[in-house]
Amino acid sequence: MAVYERNLARSTGSRAAPAARRAEPLLRIGRKWRKTLLIAHVVSAGAWIGIDVMVAVLVLTGRFGTTDEVRGLAYQALAAFVVWPMLVSALACLVTGVVLGLGTRWGLLRYWWVAVKLVLNAVLCVLIVVALQPGMAEVGEYGRTLGPGVPEPAGITNLFFPPAVSLTALTFATVLAVAKPWGRVRGGRRGGGPR
Ligand code: HEM
Repeated sequence: MAVYERNLARSTGSRAAPAARRAEPLLRIGRKWRKTLLIAHVVSAGAWIGIDVMVAVLVLTGRFGTTDEVRGLAYQALAAFVVWPMLVSALACLVTGVVLGLGTRWGLLRYWWVAVKLVLNAVLCVLIVVALQPGMAEVGEYGRTLGPGVPEPAGITNLFFPPAVSLTALTFATVLAVAKPWGRVRGGRRGGGPR
């Protein structure tokens, strides 16, 4: 516990630390569970980032692949394998993050770095369902029929956005997780400067 308090004090600044020490977690989780959840959280975040990299590779291959066959296969793979693993890892990251927040003194809306990650994670999950998933059937169909003279669906060009937006947001979330900037949402340091 002493190590945790010391890390908390170091990462929130000396003025925020005493208040943080007084705040109790909403959920009681033991040290073993906290470590297990943290491992699951980091693994799910890593898996999500990896899937996003794979999406970027498939989108680029679909666009610039050397033959129509390669391009078609990339679009088919994109449609068949990507959305559900991405959604599962995003939801796993969200759920483990929320439980970690509730089960530690970081809270959910107590520190800016956690609150911002919560919003990012939730928005990305919604985007996967409402913006990415619905177009996948068309992408798969285009991949199966792709050849000379086959018109490109309008949505194909927009496929660059999901991996670009998601990878930027997840990199930012990782920086927030490690740097833990900005202090407390209420009552602590308000500035956005470095610790
Ligand atoms: C958006 C995607 C997310 C990514 C990429 C991410 C990444 C990470 C990483 C790498 C850590 C380990 C940091 C360290 O130990 O120094 C971490 C810890 C943590 N994350 Fe996330 N996270 C995400 C979403 C969330 C969400 C949605 C929440 C909750 C609202 C959350 C809450 C936490 C908390 C409380 C910790 C510290 C746990 C502890 O020290 O016991 N994270 N996150």
